[in-house]
Amino acid sequence: MYFESHAHYDDRAFDKDRHELLEKLQESGIDIIINAAADLSSSKEGIKLAKQYDFFYATVGVHPHAVEKLEDDHIHILRKYILEPKVVAIGEIGLDYYYEHSPREVQKKWFEKQITLAKENKLPIIVHSRDAAKDTYDILQQHASTLYGGVIHCYSGSLEMAKEYVDMGFYLGVGGVITFKNAKKLVEVVREIPLTSLLIETDAPYLTPIPHRGKRNDSTMLPYIAQAIADIKQISLEEVVEQTRENGRNLFLPK
Ligand code: NI
Repeated sequence: MYFESHAHYDDRAFDKDRHELLEKLQESGIDIIINAAADLSSSKEGIKLAKQYDFFYATVGVHPHAVEKLEDDHIHILRKYILEPKVVAIGEIGLDYYYEHSPREVQKKWFEKQITLAKENKLPIIVHSRDAAKDTYDILQQHASTLYGGVIHCYSGSLEMAKEYVDMGFYLGVGGVITFKNAKKLVEVVREIPLTSLLIETDAPYLTPIPHRGKRNDSTMLPYIAQAIADIKQISLEEVVEQTRENGRNLFLPK
């Protein structure tokens, strides 16, 4: 049974067949889905879906792309959403200097605010970081000892930094990029970092793995990602699936 640690089923790419697809996923070997929120309305949609499907869990948070539109008192809306059932993390939050849809200072401010929110509510965080490795690291390092865990989603940094994040107690999220030909750095990370610190994720509808690149992504693609990890680490597919499931449950659904 696969643990999907990061997908966006509230995305409009799923508007036409969302329920058909989710019903199919529940019957086809997907144990748990963690839906990563992108903004206020997506947080709300995720919560709604979590009420409809047993195997579906929601997160609450605003992606760095969307923080520019936030006003300071929107933190109260996030606070209210967190109290809903089956909200298991704050995310995805972080820094994106590649697209830089929001000014860097605004991104940093909301990253910190949402980290604080996670700590107040004893929830783990889902971190997005693109072309912002140093600032992300600096901020997370300040908070690491008081966090309730987290994952660096779609990890794309160096092996050295990966080791530091693992030492700080973070999981690394591995998705479709691991099947791409130019994924050399990530292959090295997956080879060297213990399986006990990895999660698998699709980031659906984005980042579809080979051989389906170009099509819409969904959680039925997880086996391609798990198989790529198994090949790199020279272990069985079953071991990857079972260990990443246990990791996901430890982070998001602790007993
Ligand atoms: Ni995402």
